[in-house]
Amino acid sequence: MKLNVCIGSSCHLKGSYNVIQVFQKMIEENSLHDKVEFSATFCAKQCQNPGITVSIDGDKYNVVPETAREFFKNKVMPFI
Ligand code: FES
Repeated sequence: MKLNVCIGSSCHLKGSYNVIQVFQKMIEENSLHDKVEFSATFCAKQCQNPGITVSIDGDKYNVVPETAREFFKNKVMPFI
């Protein structure tokens, strides 16, 4: 699975760094290094959305640092 967090300036200001930290922690805690291909990209052209753009295999979602853990549990873990 390809998991991607936008680190463009707009998402950066909304806290994409925190989302990345949460995802990295979750990957570590659950030993998912070989199952999740985690990366960061520049502006995903969704800046108008309120949260940070996260994509899973190309599908775009909106995540804020407060919901990042929940998001990972619900949208990533069940599908790997
Ligand atoms: S900076 Fe993330 S969508 Fe534009």
